[in-house]
This record gives sequence, structure tokens and C-alpha cells, in this order.
Amino acid sequence: MRKKIVAGNWKMNLGLDEAMNLASELKVKIDNQLDTGEAGVGGELPEVIFFPPYVYLSRMLDIFHNYEGVGVGAQNVHHNEHGAHTGEVSALMLRSLGANYSLVGHSERRQQFGEDDELLAAKIATALKNGIKPVYCCGEQLPERESDKHFQVVEDQLKRGLFWLDETQLKNVIIAYEPVWAIGTGRTATPDQAQEMHAHIRKLIMEKYSAEAAENMSILYGGSCNAKNAAELFAQPDVDGGLIGGASLKSDDFFRIIQSF
Ligand code: PGA
Repeated sequence: MRKKIVAGNWKMNLGLDEAMNLASELKVKIDNQLDTGEAGVGGELPEVIFFPPYVYLSRMLDIFHNYEGVGVGAQNVHHNEHGAHTGEVSALMLRSLGANYSLVGHSERRQQFGEDDELLAAKIATALKNGIKPVYCCGEQLPERESDKHFQVVEDQLKRGLFWLDETQLKNVIIAYEPVWAIGTGRTATPDQAQEMHAHIRKLIMEKYSAEAAENMSILYGGSCNAKNAAELFAQPDVDGGLIGGASLKSDDFFRIIQSF
């Protein structure tokens, strides 16, 4: 069965003290939840993944390394393993630190740093080679949705970025559907909009790979997902959890989202 996942993308936010307080508060809440065996609404405990800024990764891993059900990942990864790339961080380094995941292709990286699907495919290759599981982000911009091109846009992103992998490699990938118009805007996709895109993504995986590959892929929704709307989104049959930005910066809100299954 595919995994339910709630991931927190802290982006470029929080000073060290704030970051460590947030992590410790969440650890206490997760510890308590595990102790009491009390899970979310549906009685399920999702995997939790933190995506802090690079500079806090090591500190986060001091807290959560080998903690069952909690992963720690980077927000970005370079497409080369090492070399003269000033300011960059490689999958090999992430792995040597004990990190398990990396976001790849977040829309802010696509837009602000010009990352295209070809580069993202190379990042995915290096990540997988070094034991880092990529969370591949895809999603359309507002004009693309308004002109009814959203299914095609996401399909192209998947085909170019991901669908060159073989089925065994694909097992180590997570997909996050994040409509760009919903990110940080407070304008969340409706549960129906999320469901129909997630079902579309799953169908594409089935056509390219197999029913089993499609069934096992965790597909997360991201874009103004918060403590109020998470339960309704996560109740959709093809929504396997969330990639949370703003609402992952407050422990109460993020924990309520974790409990929304
Ligand atoms: P948001 O960000 O929850 O603040 O909209 C989501 C994301 O960018 O991953």
C-alpha cells in the first residue's frame, strides 16, 4: 500500500533558534502521539518529512536521525556529485549527512532559478544514484489552468522529468502536485480539482508503467494547504498527503495537518 505523507517545506524561513524550537515542539507532539497510539481522524499515522534550509539539516538530523516515521530532506540538490560548483550541495553530501529526501523542481526553483525539466531529470538521476529519494514537484501556472492546459502541462513535466526512469527506480520517487497559483496565495485548489489532477497523474503512471506502479505512488498536494482544509483534501482517494509551506512553520498548525488523515 502506498504511504501517506505530510511534508513541511520551510523554504528560506526561520532563524536557528526558531527552527530548533519548531522541531523540538513537533518532536514532543509526535512522541506523545506514538506513546498514546492516538493517530489522526482516520486512525492513520502518516510519514512526516521535514525540508529545512540546508544550514539546519545537520541539526535536524541530530533530532530525527533514524527516528521511525520521520524523514529529513533538502529543498534542492545539485545535478553533479561533486566539483567546482560554488555554493551548491550534492546528493552525495546529503546522503553522507543522513538525509533521505530532496525536493526537486519546486516551482520557486523553476521560476526563480530557471530550472527546466531536463535539468530536473539530471537532479533526479544523481539523487537516486546516491540514495536520496526525490520529491518531484509539478504543477501549472494560473494562465495555463485558465486556458485549460493544466493536464497537458503536468503531463509534459512528468514525461520529461520523470518518465525516463525504470519502474524499480520510480519506486523511490514521490510526486507533489502543486498548482503554482495556489502556492502561498491562500487560494487552495478545491478537493475536486486536486483529486482530478492526482487521478490524471496516477493514470499516466499506469499507462507508462503498470497498475502496480500507479497504485504504489504517493502523490502529495501542495499549495495553501492548512490545518483547516487538509482533512478534506486528504480524504480524496488519490491525495496521499501534503507538501506544506506556510502552515509548516507553526507547530500546532503542522501537527493538526499531520493528524488530518
Ligand atoms: P504553501 O507552499 O503551503 O505556503 O502554499 C507550499 C509549497 O510551496 O510547497
